[in-house]
Amino acid sequence: MRTISLKTNQHRLIANLRHAFTPRSMLGELLQNARRAKAKRIDVTVDGDTLTVSDNGCGIADLQTLIFIAESGWDEPTKSRENAFGLGVLSTLYFARTLSVHSGEQAFAAETAAIINGDDITVHAKPPRIGTQIRLSGVQSPDPAKRLRVWVAKELQRLCKAFPVPVFCNGAEIARPFADKTLPWRKTKMGKVLIDLKASPHQWRAFLQGLPIGVKESYNDHGWHQTVLLPDGTLAKLPDRQHLLNEEQDKRRIQAAVNTAYREVLMEAKASLSPEAFITQHARHCLDSRNADLLNDVPFASLNWFRDWDDEPAGFRHDWNRCYRDGLVSRKEIEARGVWRMAASDDERDTFAAQVYLQAAQAFVLEEERLAHGHWLHDAAKTVELPRIQVRHGAIRHRSHAVGLEDAVELVLVDSLHVGMQGLPEYVVDAIRHHDVLYLTTQANAPTQLVSDYIFNEAYEEAAEDNDADRIRTFIAIACEDSPAKVLTALLPYSLRYAGQSKLANAKVQLRFDNEGKLIWVD
Ligand SMILES: Nc1ncnc2c1ncn2[C@@H]1O[C@H](COP(=O)(O)OP(=O)(O)OP(=O)(O)O)[C@@H](O)[C@H]1O
Ligand SMILES: [Mg+2]
Repeated sequence: MRTISLKTNQHRLIANLRHAFTPRSMLGELLQNARRAKAKRIDVTVDGDTLTVSDNGCGIADLQTLIFIAESGWDEPTKSRENAFGLGVLSTLYFARTLSVHSGEQAFAAETAAIINGDDITVHAKPPRIGTQIRLSGVQSPDPAKRLRVWVAKELQRLCKAFPVPVFCNGAEIARPFADKTLPWRKTKMGKVLIDLKASPHQWRAFLQGLPIGVKESYNDHGWHQTVLLPDGTLAKLPDRQHLLNEEQDKRRIQAAVNTAYREVLMEAKASLSPEAFITQHARHCLDSRNADLLNDVPFASLNWFRDWDDEPAGFRHDWNRCYRDGLVSRKEIEARGVWRMAASDDERDTFAAQVYLQAAQAFVLEEERLAHGHWLHDAAKTVELPRIQVRHGAIRHRSHAVGLEDAVELVLVDSLHVGMQGLPEYVVDAIRHHDVLYLTTQANAPTQLVSDYIFNEAYEEAAEDNDADRIRTFIAIACEDSPAKVLTALLPYSLRYAGQSKLANAKVQLRFDNEGKLIWVD
């Protein structure tokens, strides 16, 4: 009986493994080996196309270990804790022409092609040195637009952000902001987390064994973020640890750990600050991070949560440029003045009269939708009942249909105008839209925000708004004056009345209107 067994075409396997690595892996692998060798300092130098990494770690007892694929020479605890694959050095061979190594009293130098081919490499004695020096020559910059020296410096900045060992690049120390153990790290089930409240809990970057992992290329380097130092044993994808092995599952776990830590930080802030300070500094963080419930028992509200009548008068609907106000208001004051919630309506125009009322009353209108269930404002806010809004007006001076406004409203000029709500005080107003009637007083100017939002095909059309404003002003002028001559005088532009137009000197113009009041002749 014949037996078969698993065989390997070692040369082809090793040659083809090239495609499993990218030049990006190379630097990280060298740094990682130096860290595992317990180096206290790592020096990276680049001279032309030669890259040298020197460390003052434990050194390599037998240089064969260095080029023994899929075998790791680290001590047992390191191997099992960090899942050493025995592939790191291999990754460097594909991207260099020669490799020279000097560790302790031994050294070798060889063409990488010869090493990959499995040729015998001569190890020779050299004066002893502390730690290991690995020199790769014939290295090409992975980014054709950058020289190797520049690429390495930039890449080290990215790699070393949380690296525990000091790294120098051509003599200059690389910044390692997250290697600082004294920062307020929090222990979680997914390692140590550093919370930055300025960033959303969903923006995080992770490091495994000191090096970044799973970082998207497009990651905004200047953005705020949460920092996660994963437990050393978190499994990374073979061969080069650029991504987590159980990415989807781990991402969920990391997110849960960050969320917990983020909430803890907010809770600690709440415990240590006055309610005013807490809400001023952290209301936004609570709302943005689904920790809104932490605000439930704080007896203050941020002015931001309410409509700002100065920036957004009744009828104003430019949601895209909301302004945010600073400042607080106490629960006591809100409860004394009353707080409202606009009634839901399919057509916002139905609510214009209520908005005019609430603006006249300078009422608090709750607009923040993310307050948690159980927040006192939910109980305090009364919903406006549209039928309770009452418009009361004095004598009608003039009314006009179909004047070509964007919204088909009837214009009615009245002597006086009041708006009220059943059982509550009423207020004098200049203009109000009640359903399809726009009531105006002579004080009204042109309240176009009660007519239309002038957004057509998602673009704001100023000309349409100007046109409506003109028509409303003309309507008011006609309604106010008792003779056609006075109407015309009222409507004459300033440039005709107060600035000399030499061409018109001593001119006399006659206008004739038909029996409907339409201009038919200019003489
Ligand atoms: N700077 C160094 N100092 C001391 N020993 C080193 C150094 N670099 C490599 N070695 C030795 O060479 C071996 C092979 O290194 P290599 O990076 O290929 O594999 P590994 O680190 O064991 O595993 P992997 O990098 O795949 O996680 C290491 O196990 C270690 O014994
Ligand atoms: Mg390694």
